[in-house]
Amino acid sequence: MDRLIIFDTTLRDGEQSPGASMTREEKLRIAKQLERLRVDVIEAGFAASSNGDFEAVRSIANTIKHSTVCSLARANDRDIGRAAEALAGSDNKRIHTFIATSPLHMEKKLRMTPEQVFEQARLAVRFARQFTDNLEFSPEDGYRSEPDFLCRVLEAVIKEGATTINIPDTVGYAVPELYGEFIRTLRERIPNADKAVWSVHCHNDLGMAVANSLAGVKIGGARQVECTINGLGERAGNTSLEEVVMAVKTRRDYFGLEVGVDTQQIMPASKLVSGITGFVVQPNKAVVGANAFAHASGIHQDGVLKARETYEIMRAEDVGWHANKIVLGKLSGRNAFKQRVQALGIPVESEAEMNAAFAKFKDLADRKAEIFDEDIQALFSDESVTPHDEHFKLVSLSQRSETGERPHAKVVFSVGAKEIAAESDGNGPVDASLKAIESEVASGAELLLYSVNAITTGTESQGEVTVRLARAGRIANGVGADPDIVAASAKAYLSALNKLYSDVERLNPQTSLAP
Ligand code: KIV
Ligand code: ZN
Repeated sequence: MDRLIIFDTTLRDGEQSPGASMTREEKLRIAKQLERLRVDVIEAGFAASSNGDFEAVRSIANTIKHSTVCSLARANDRDIGRAAEALAGSDNKRIHTFIATSPLHMEKKLRMTPEQVFEQARLAVRFARQFTDNLEFSPEDGYRSEPDFLCRVLEAVIKEGATTINIPDTVGYAVPELYGEFIRTLRERIPNADKAVWSVHCHNDLGMAVANSLAGVKIGGARQVECTINGLGERAGNTSLEEVVMAVKTRRDYFGLEVGVDTQQIMPASKLVSGITGFVVQPNKAVVGANAFAHASGIHQDGVLKARETYEIMRAEDVGWHANKIVLGKLSGRNAFKQRVQALGIPVESEAEMNAAFAKFKDLADRKAEIFDEDIQALFSDESVTPHDEHFKLVSLSQRSETGERPHAKVVFSVGAKEIAAESDGNGPVDASLKAIESEVASGAELLLYSVNAITTGTESQGEVTVRLARAGRIANGVGADPDIVAASAKAYLSALNKLYSDVERLNPQTSLAP
């Protein structure tokens, strides 16, 4: 069977999403999970964009053995040299170089003539060739490029040694049939097209990134899809990895393609990425949303109980979902907890992290009788478990709200070694609690997003809160989980403050780069 290459760009294009920037350690954790997921290529970052991203690409290249590790580079010697240097420790590396080819981008952004772009693309691939034979070239805004010019550029870069040709729909403008035909036409018109693997890279501005990518595969003959976990990415995001993989697997009859991904690792990957970035997955998201396999209507439930294929086209367990079962309780010991964590495929880096998670578990079990798999997963999204700089920490919270009265909250939190007590009124108990914290911290941060999500079903569920703050050009997401959503909100707010004030570099390639 023909094989479809899965190229994951969560750590590069996904990370460009405002607020999704990660530390080097977080990137490495995700890269290890992507390797467990058995993606073919991991785009680890953009080495030339910052020293931090260079180091992240380098540590991923030195660690990952079973997936190809790739760095993005603009089409110039400096960027390509930095990418090659960062990837030097890998036996299985790829350099991905790009330059814009659409009339709009060439004229307004690059201020270059088409001939200059043609020459730069060619020379860049020639230069990169000395570092590796595994070379990808992307004409940025390729879908809006003039086909005759694009054919000339692509023919030339293949002659220079590009082995993968990726056609980005950079602004998410494509529609499936036209995008598929665009790729087919390029492949038909370019004489040496068969010397390269063709790849699709779609953005989701019109909600069609997955459909466009699949049309690029089916109609255009592409054999690589560029995608991200949970569809993470700037604006409306990138093509979602889990949707592409499950579409190709579930409709093998139609696509006739093999993918190497271990689908049972999809949920752990989804949880890890949403926990680290604070980008919560919408409940009705295909494959990884909390409702993706939940049958609420009586007719559906009845059908599924009689024969699951009546309403289910995929099995939840095949993508790493575990039944909502009570796995542990107050009396469970450390070993039982550790075994469950391992069974859930949650990557744990150190004993210290396991110990911190176990302490949180005990604390939760004191307050919540039934602990579900999702609660355990949330413990690891709760950032006080993962090793990072925890400067602000919730100690206690009490709040009073009564019909007709203005809510009031008292919050005690630590700032380093010091404990601070703060209180405030607010429109509601959450508002009062966050205002109380802010009255002491005085961060002046702008609240860009506040959202609450129930981790499991029922009113006993923990609430998982995401808070996104912006301050002095920096954006940070914080996540907090607790059966009490006011406490979860305070934890999320403090977690976002920790990131805003942290010295640990958060990498967000491209923000400071000129073309
Ligand atoms: O969307 C895009 O054009 C890109 C390229 C750099 C591949 O991400
Ligand atoms: Zn992109």
